[in-house]
Amino acid sequence: MRFEIVTLFPELFDVLRAGLLGKAQDARAIDIQAITPREFTHDRHRTVDDAPYGGGSGMVLMPGPIAQALDHLDEARGGKPTLRVLLTPQGARFSQAHARRFSELGSLTLVCGRYEGFDERIRGLADEEVSLGDFVLLGGEAAALAVIEATARLLPGVLGNDESAADESHSDGLLEYPQYTRPEEFRGQKVPEILRSGNHAAIARWRRKESLRRTRDRRPDLLETAELTNEDRELLEEIREGR
Ligand code: ADE
Repeated sequence: MRFEIVTLFPELFDVLRAGLLGKAQDARAIDIQAITPREFTHDRHRTVDDAPYGGGSGMVLMPGPIAQALDHLDEARGGKPTLRVLLTPQGARFSQAHARRFSELGSLTLVCGRYEGFDERIRGLADEEVSLGDFVLLGGEAAALAVIEATARLLPGVLGNDESAADESHSDGLLEYPQYTRPEEFRGQKVPEILRSGNHAAIARWRRKESLRRTRDRRPDLLETAELTNEDRELLEEIREGR
């Protein structure tokens, strides 16, 4: 899958060379192209922003250089389709469902806005708008990195084994169960006995129950939409009764 980023700071995306995403790039499972709209300016200062019409403080990103950067990417892709996503705090809250949908695409183009503002006509260049959450970043770059990481880890060949992408928090609408490794006792806290029992059915049941408990305690909103089986409902009943 191809990830394209239009950003004033392409060097921020060098971090994607580290770890599994670096390996995924080496293996050609993903391709990351970050370009700056400054390349598509025609003045000495490579100006990408200007004062806002109507007055006020701060500078506003101009639409021209961004539109030209997008045209350039279209051309380099040889006319293959992409989805253009603008990162802005006004967008829809990014979720695992977005990551899943994006991971089905051949190409995703992320356009990073910036904190002081961008010309409204830049919105018209994008297919959709996504926000990382209800807080304001200096620009869309950190949000774009999060979108790339959440999407790329769902692609075949990016994680070591195929199961690990599915079996984690949020992928089935619940939070993940608690995990333990050695030592068996750490600062007085023991690993739950059942995990050392070798009884795989009992362990699976315990994990499901703890996943439900954790979701109920920390993110009850997720329980409203999670697909629960009859056994899940029984487990929740047990939790409610303190069993
Ligand atoms: N740009 C600035 N803040 C942002 C946010 N919360 N999400 C996405 N892009 C942003």
